[in-house]
Amino acid sequence: MTRIPLARPYWDEECQEAAVNVLSSGRWVKGPQAQAFGEEFAKWCGAVAAVPCQSGSAALMVALRLLGIGPGDEVIVPGMTFIATATSVSLVGATPVFADIEEEYWCISPQDVEVKITSKTKAVIGVHIFGQPFSSKLREICDEKKIALIEDAAQAHGASLDGIKAGAIGDLACFSFFPSKNMAVGGEGGMVTTTRKDLADRLRRLVDHGRDDALESIELGTNLRMSEVNAAIGRIQLTKIDQWTSKRRSNSKFIEHETLTRPGSEHAWHQLCILSDDPNLLITKFDEAQIDARVHYPIPCNRHQVYSEHFQHKENLVVCDKIAHKLVAIPIHPSLTHDELSKIKATLHSSSLC
Ligand SMILES: Cc1ncc(COP(=O)(O)O)c(C=O)c1O
Repeated sequence: MTRIPLARPYWDEECQEAAVNVLSSGRWVKGPQAQAFGEEFAKWCGAVAAVPCQSGSAALMVALRLLGIGPGDEVIVPGMTFIATATSVSLVGATPVFADIEEEYWCISPQDVEVKITSKTKAVIGVHIFGQPFSSKLREICDEKKIALIEDAAQAHGASLDGIKAGAIGDLACFSFFPSKNMAVGGEGGMVTTTRKDLADRLRRLVDHGRDDALESIELGTNLRMSEVNAAIGRIQLTKIDQWTSKRRSNSKFIEHETLTRPGSEHAWHQLCILSDDPNLLITKFDEAQIDARVHYPIPCNRHQVYSEHFQHKENLVVCDKIAHKLVAIPIHPSLTHDELSKIKATLHSSSLC
């Protein structure tokens, strides 16, 4: 048996044919594929509109710019997430304010969000971390305080909260199609969705130089468009994502590791993470069994060097500091064979490290 990776990007003849057809057509950018991918994605997740773009990180910056967020503004983000959640805020000139995470579900803590809200807070970015939807209390808090809620759904294609799919929970949502994500596009890619009609037109504009239909730039933007080849591949993967999510769920059941899932929600199982007191030894056990495993995300965002000047650089976000370096991701992706799953399960349960 060859080594079992943490992710296996999906590729088949249908994807290949779609890619080659686009290349042969000569219409490589700004064509029907990206247009259709956005429409189909919005319909699938229940958003008002969706626009493909170049990455999940680009999607986050577009979402922030759409909301007019910039210098002098604060945006609350979880202390434990992929760093792009925070750096997107810094890159539009605003200040990320780090909130702690929930002990049970590892998503941003609504209680700490309430503590961190100031008169400068313009938005909260909730991350559906590892595919686990964030608390519905975030929506309540944002509505009450009249601030925007952005979903970082980079890891959560197909997750849902109280019957609403990721992509239609916040004012805006940002997805990534990086190759290891639950669906991909044969390269870099992202998607911004919105539930607000008033943002839909500007959403299209902001990934295309801020231009209107007459090609006049009416606000500041740049080229963040997705290529037609990537969109064509994404459209095919979108038709398969629901079955892949079911397979991820059944894989997690099969592996039989108790992970708390939020009541009323559907987890998208981007990662199956094991909270371990000895993460290095657990990774070594998996490594010896020829299985990839990795700590996600060992350093709380506020402690990264890039935030050495940030007012929270040394702040102890209690739960982040306690568990961030102890969460070990093991393979759970839908292409795992029965033998591979059995090996993962046996390796996990033979170890007393979780
Ligand atoms: C939670 C989260 N946010 C944002 C991103 C950024 O996405 P991308 O790599 O497509 O820029 C990722 C992807 O790694 C992610 O996991």
